Amino acid sequence: MYGVMFGFLKEYVVKNHGGDETWRSLLKEAGQSPYKIYFATKDYPDEEIVAIATAASKALTLPISAVLEDFGSYVGPRLVEFYHPYIDGHDQDTFSVVPYAGGHIHDLIHKHNPDRKPPQLSAEVLDEERTAMEVHYKSHRMMCSVVRGVLRGLGEHFGESLHINETQCMHSGAEKCKFMVTKTIE
Ligand code: HEM
Repeated sequence: MYGVMFGFLKEYVVKNHGGDETWRSLLKEAGQSPYKIYFATKDYPDEEIVAIATAASKALTLPISAVLEDFGSYVGPRLVEFYHPYIDGHDQDTFSVVPYAGGHIHDLIHKHNPDRKPPQLSAEVLDEERTAMEVHYKSHRMMCSVVRGVLRGLGEHFGESLHINETQCMHSGAEKCKFMVTKTIE
């Protein structure tokens, strides 16, 4: 996984879970140097981010899925902000960001590195009023908790009232995860 994600994870831990000291103790618990620096465009083993999330789940006595979801809710809006030039014009609401990110962003990020395996993400808005969207996710990383969190975080970012329901999951043997996202318009 790209170092940029480790950078966002650090930011999330430092801001929401007790500062640099917590980050250093999580790195140590995950078997890394507490002063390790992650370079944004460098690739690091997926197991490292999983080990850090596992250490966080132990420290917080929460299931790892809850930790990943909460991180996702932080990182969704951060990705939109950080990669703004890539998604300019497709960032008015969750129902425009997600189909665009699915179809373009992950592929674009991996374009110059054929060894990388980006998540397969696709999303379709199902009605003219734009109140229902189906999201498909497939990845060997099986991080659908992050997807749920990203969707929730984007909804909060855009001030929308979203209901997110995972209708099938790779963790239960499905070939891919599917989410139904519905929006209540007041
Ligand atoms: C807003 C634009 C987005 C950008 C710029 C972006 C960027 C990235 C980057 C850089 C990675 C690391 C990939 C790697 O190291 O191989 C990543 C991973 C990931 N992204 Fe996105 N992303 C975006 C939107 C989304 C959305 C909307 C979702 C889900 C609803 C999503 C779900 C994920 C997940 C779950 C991963 C973890 C890797 C995996 O599951 O295989 N991303 N994204």
